[in-house]
Amino acid sequence: MPSPIDDRRYLVPFRSALLPQLFADVLVIGSGAAGLRAATVVAEAGREVVVLSSREATHSSTNWAQGGIAAAMDAADHPEAHARDTIEAGAGLCDEPRVRLLCEAAPGEMDRLLEWGMRFDREADGGLSLGREGGHRHNRILHTDGAATGQALSSCLLARARSYEHLRIFESCTAIDLLTADEAPGAPVTGVLTHHPRHGLQVIWAASVVLAGGGAGRLFRETTNPATATGESMAMAFRAGAVVADTEFVQFHPTTLYVAGSGRALMSEAVRGEGGRLLDRRGLPIMDGVHELGDLAPRDVVTAQIAKVLAETGDPCVYLDATRLPGGLASRFPTLAAALAEFDIDPDATPIPVHPAAHYTIGGVATDEDGATSVPGLFACGEVTATGVHGANRLASNSLLEGLVFGARAGAAAAAAEDSGRRPRLVAEAPQGRAGELDLVDVRASLRSAMWRNVGIERDGGKLGDALEMIDFWGRYCLDKTFDDPDGWRMQGMLAAARLIVRGAMVRTESRGTHRRADHPDRNPGFEVRFAWRRGRVDPEVLPVARLADDDPNVTPVGDGVVNA
Ligand code: SIN
Repeated sequence: MPSPIDDRRYLVPFRSALLPQLFADVLVIGSGAAGLRAATVVAEAGREVVVLSSREATHSSTNWAQGGIAAAMDAADHPEAHARDTIEAGAGLCDEPRVRLLCEAAPGEMDRLLEWGMRFDREADGGLSLGREGGHRHNRILHTDGAATGQALSSCLLARARSYEHLRIFESCTAIDLLTADEAPGAPVTGVLTHHPRHGLQVIWAASVVLAGGGAGRLFRETTNPATATGESMAMAFRAGAVVADTEFVQFHPTTLYVAGSGRALMSEAVRGEGGRLLDRRGLPIMDGVHELGDLAPRDVVTAQIAKVLAETGDPCVYLDATRLPGGLASRFPTLAAALAEFDIDPDATPIPVHPAAHYTIGGVATDEDGATSVPGLFACGEVTATGVHGANRLASNSLLEGLVFGARAGAAAAAAEDSGRRPRLVAEAPQGRAGELDLVDVRASLRSAMWRNVGIERDGGKLGDALEMIDFWGRYCLDKTFDDPDGWRMQGMLAAARLIVRGAMVRTESRGTHRRADHPDRNPGFEVRFAWRRGRVDPEVLPVARLADDDPNVTPVGDGVVNA
């Protein structure tokens, strides 16, 4: 019988009298696209804002993002067509009004980025070069140097953020826990407990906090994510009482480099957008006849097909054939060609070995369209959230866009929020257990292997039950032995986030989007709902999926190929 998830309130026993304290109007946790976009709006509103980055400010999933940003910028395209592709990829679970909001706001966000100096790739005639990725029926991906869009976006937003006098960025400063006015359910968030390797623990009080700490892809052994994407932000919000939703949906990217010793470097879908094809070991195309969009089918379809081919053949990888790209891979994707050269792979001569890996966390902290969570004073944006725009499967290149659009909205709402003015007295707890006896590296590696093996591309009730048992077991002894160092706190957050993902995967006894259950292989219309989790409760709440009205004049049924005005 499952127990409530992580009932422990604070991770760290602290002694407030000894802790340095700072004040800000708004505190933003995370320096990726969502956090920086939120911070710029707060600064624009004349409020003082502090951005926390657990490493250097450029270290974020945004910086690693390749493909680009989806926006209907072409005269022949329309936000409604973008919305329709997003809803189709989302496999019945998209919050449709929010998808529309996202797609309608996209061109304006791109214009703003251009105004701020963002460098997107252009065609010979000077127009924006618009690429194509899985699930899109129109060329609408803006990109930089082919597949280095995230890095350019991160630089652009950081430069902008640094231009505001009252916007400060604290690097190497990790948010450990959210502080609430008291322990009552629904008590407002009033600040954050932070840790800095040199300055130790410190409290930052704020009128409102914007959580933009990223996803949880690093919980899986095979992943495209940076080391910081361990789900701690989701766990932190959950501990503070925030509702968390859609946790079963983790997106596995179909094509990451599969070479012993290499990181799982992403081989962008944009390569297939330019004509790259997926082949098996014998050189046969694997997507023919699987989906009308072939190699550019939505990501869940491509990943599932690769998993099927690997299971049938026993091979460790399939191959991305980029040998026929006009001008060669390096001319369109110089960063990918450079990454391959490190492993002596010539993509113009040989197909690239690829394999799926955990890529994007669709579930997270539930928010309204302005980033408000269920906890007063706490806003959230970016990958840490479940805004509902991705449904059960995110459409390619919609994530940086989501960070920008909902980051701006969350920033505006946070800047306007009233300060509860409540500063709780932090009570010291006597540390229990014996610190320092755990080999955390070993626990982390075991957790990541278990998540990949049991909670990865193909799941079933038995494997999920085993994963939950392991996580509970590790949780029982980790919680009491990891109170005195940042790695221990991180481990506790990872376990709590992993548990949320597993519980979500257990209750959804069907296959839909990124969530595939071998024991329930079909989609079940009875599951056209979202599951939401709250601290201290055993069972999830069931949320209806928000739809656009049937008689909305702008809506065309999905898949009829017509673009509406
Ligand atoms: C890619 O470049 O394939 C990834 C883009 C994304 O995840 O949206």
